[in-house]
Amino acid sequence: MAPGGTGARRLSAGVSHAKVNSPAVSFEKTLGEFRTLIDQRLGDLLPDPTSSPGPLHEAMRYSALAPGKRLRPCLCLAAAIACGAKDLEAVLDGACSLELVHCFSLIHDDLPAIDDDDLRRGRPTCHKVFGEALAILAGDALFALAFQVCLASHSNPQVTTKLGTILATASGSAGLVGGEVLDILSEGKKGDIDLLQTIHARKTGSLIEASCSFGAILAQASEASIQACGSFGKSVGLAFQIHDDILNETSTSEELGKAVGSDKERNKLTYPALLGLKESERLANKATQEALESLSQLPGDTELLRNLCLYSVQRKS
Ligand code: IPE
Ligand code: IPE
Ligand code: MG
Ligand code: MG
Repeated sequence: MAPGGTGARRLSAGVSHAKVNSPAVSFEKTLGEFRTLIDQRLGDLLPDPTSSPGPLHEAMRYSALAPGKRLRPCLCLAAAIACGAKDLEAVLDGACSLELVHCFSLIHDDLPAIDDDDLRRGRPTCHKVFGEALAILAGDALFALAFQVCLASHSNPQVTTKLGTILATASGSAGLVGGEVLDILSEGKKGDIDLLQTIHARKTGSLIEASCSFGAILAQASEASIQACGSFGKSVGLAFQIHDDILNETSTSEELGKAVGSDKERNKLTYPALLGLKESERLANKATQEALESLSQLPGDTELLRNLCLYSVQRKS
């Protein structure tokens, strides 16, 4: 299967900037349209389940096409718009590569050796359905596919080298994987706010920051705009993960589609555990405000980014 084989339809940056709708309805509609496009493209990029090894491809598709929020690719598309991109077709594959890394990370995060969770996106986790060996290998293959897609996502090799480097840095020991390691090492231990912030910045923030940088780079934005999108993403990433910690204490597994109360059970170092719910909410709002401040530096329409930022801390799942 060659990524990019089946063509992404033309996608205009004007998708549902419907003036007829209220801002909230318009945002929901655009989010829905973005998700449909992302899901269709992911469906094309993922290996055919009838090709060998079928069980591996089924496991990859099971997890990657499960109903997630698609926040990272949506942020990438919205960042491109905020940097003045008019045609999002050139951004879609880069956006999908971010979701593929995210899906790999979810499969591995849920494994018995890490968080040992049975429910993800409202469904049994990958290892519950396909067994641990296939879940590990499906995660590995999604991670590899992410780079295959990323490196083929633009015709200019300077752009793809830059994207590939950002994706590798955000995913590896300095980013997501390193953050996952710090997260499990801090279980049951006393930790302080600096360590906690580092864990969140790495395990979650790094890929969200990369998502916003990707959008700016693919929109061929100025260095200043790329930096502004990165700072925006960094703050959104922190706000998003603090809110995730809060939901783990306050929501239900029906609403979240994943376990609740599990952070406490595993003695995780989280914002509510360290600082309480109220202070956690205050810090999530502070990070949200910081994110919103970065938007004034961008040349294009920042409304979608603004809404995605607010959605990150107002979401119920
Ligand atoms: C869950 O991420 C894992 C974290 C980084 C907290 P999301 O909440 O974005 O998961 P999906 O993609 O919507 O399932
Ligand atoms: C997940 O963090 C972060 C990554 C998958 C990299 P958590 O373990 O806190 O998130 P959930 O609660 O399983 O989604
Ligand atoms: Mg975890
Ligand atoms: Mg987890």
